[in-house]
Order: sequence, then structure tokens, then C-alpha cells
Amino acid sequence: MPVETATENLTPQEREQRGEQLKRDGIVIRTYDLWKTYIMGDQEIHAVSGVDVQIKRGEYVAIMGPSGSGKSTLMNLIGCLDTPTKGLYYLNGKLASDMEDDELARIRNKEIGFIFQTFNLLARASALQNVELPLIYAGIASSERSNRAREALRSVDLEQRMYHKPNELSGGQRQRVAIARALVNRPSILLADEPTGALDTHTGDEIMTLFARLHEQGNTIVLVTHEQDIAMHADRIIHIRDGKVERDEQVRSPALPLP
Ligand SMILES: Nc1ncnc2c1ncn2[C@@H]1O[C@H](COP(=O)(O)OP(=O)(O)OP(=O)(O)O)[C@@H](O)[C@H]1O
Ligand SMILES: [Mg+2]
Repeated sequence: MPVETATENLTPQEREQRGEQLKRDGIVIRTYDLWKTYIMGDQEIHAVSGVDVQIKRGEYVAIMGPSGSGKSTLMNLIGCLDTPTKGLYYLNGKLASDMEDDELARIRNKEIGFIFQTFNLLARASALQNVELPLIYAGIASSERSNRAREALRSVDLEQRMYHKPNELSGGQRQRVAIARALVNRPSILLADEPTGALDTHTGDEIMTLFARLHEQGNTIVLVTHEQDIAMHADRIIHIRDGKVERDEQVRSPALPLP
């Protein structure tokens, strides 16, 4: 292991300096020997066991692995929905692994756009209101909220459906609303867990085409999937097995970063 992964003995000041260095280097996600261990009775389950990953701004990465390999657990750590048992996690230069719940919620809302398999939209709210939601949490004024939500819906070609409620939209359209909601805060990363899992093949392809476009526009995308076909849309595939990185594969050369 490289010397720089020896993180146990860093002073708080050194940890902060490392975060600043990562940010200067354009590294949005960096984990050092990250662990998540569940205790079940007298058994320890290492769902994530010693993961070192580094993802740069503008990358398009798939995390792939069999059921139970730790993908969702890792994604929850990366998305600041959960805290590690051990190890360091820097998100956009900030040491998220040290944060308390309220601080984590704040960094999550600012830095991460989530996309889930089942969309997770509010049933009674219009597309526009659903997309505005993260801006309400972020304390953005109402007129700007509306403008930004429309702009996000336009970026997924759904402006003409903004007053529709989820049950008045197709599956693919619902997922596009969820993607607009994920984009509206201009997060550092888009984090998607099986985003095409609830869609038919054709609609799933449309969503993957949309991801490709968002990536070309400069977004950083991390996608969790167990399907090879879906993973092949990314530039890089991180293969996970038994909570560890089994293989880190560059499947095509990364797009040049936008100026
Ligand atoms: N809250 C929990 N308590 C105890 N064990 C858990 C918990 N959550 C997950 N695990 C265990 O951790 C391991 C990794 O689970 P995880 O959900 O991350 O897998 P996954 O790769 O996302 O699988 P899938 O493809 O089926 O979604 C599994 O063995 C699971 O049983
Ligand atoms: Mg999972």
C-alpha cells in the first residue's frame, strides 16, 4: 500500500491539509482504508472492508458487484447517508468521516445528487415541486427556486410536463424528474443506485443516454449496478467483491475535462 494511505497517525491539521490538497487536485471522492462493520449477535459482518478509492471531478464511474458484495453500503458511505466504522472519507476536500449527523446532512444536500431505483418522488407534488425540494432545504428564495427547478427540468427535456404529478408521468419521465431533482443543487457528484432497475430496456437506454449527456456537460457520475451492460456506459468500472475492491478497470479513456 502506498505510504499516503497510512492515515491513522495524522494530526487534525495534517488531515485538513490533505483535504485541501485533494481539492486542488480535483479529487471529489477519496476514501482511505474505509470499513463498515455490522455486529449481528456474536458475528461481525464487514460489509465494506478496507476500501481505498479515488474519483476525480468529471469522471463517470460504475460500481459493480454481485448481490451482498457491499455496493449499497459503500454508496451510502460515499453519499453521507451513513458513517464508516473506520477509515477516512473526503468529499470535495472535506473530511466527511469525522462529521456529526447535522453536518453530514448539510454536506449531503450541497454536494450530492441522489438517484434511486424507484425514483422516490413525492406522489402529491408536481414535477416542478419535486425538483424544488432540495432548494427549499438549502434555503433558496422562492422565485429563484422556481427558475432553477425549471432550468433543471429543461435539461432533462421535461419542461412541458412540469405540472404533472408522478402518476401522470411515464416511468422514464419519473426518473428524469428524479434526475432533475438531483441536478438542481449543482452537486459535486451524481450518485445513482440501479437507476434503470425499475425500467424496461428501451426506457433504461434513454436514461443511460441522458447520463452520457450529463457527463459530457461536466457532471461527475457514480453509478451502482449489477448489470454489465449498464456498467459499460461508464468510463471506469470498480468491481466490488466481499466488501473489497477486486478490480479497478478503465474501460475507455476519460472525456477531457471542460475548461
Ligand atoms: N444494516 C445491516 N445490518 C447487518 N448487515 C447488513 C446491513 N446492511 C447490509 N448488511 C450486510 O452487508 C453486506 C453488504 O450489503 P449491501 O446491501 O451493501 O450489498 P449490495 O452489494 O448492495 O447487494 P445488492 O446487489 O443485493 O443490493 C451483506 O452481506 C448484507 O447482508
Ligand atoms: Mg444494494
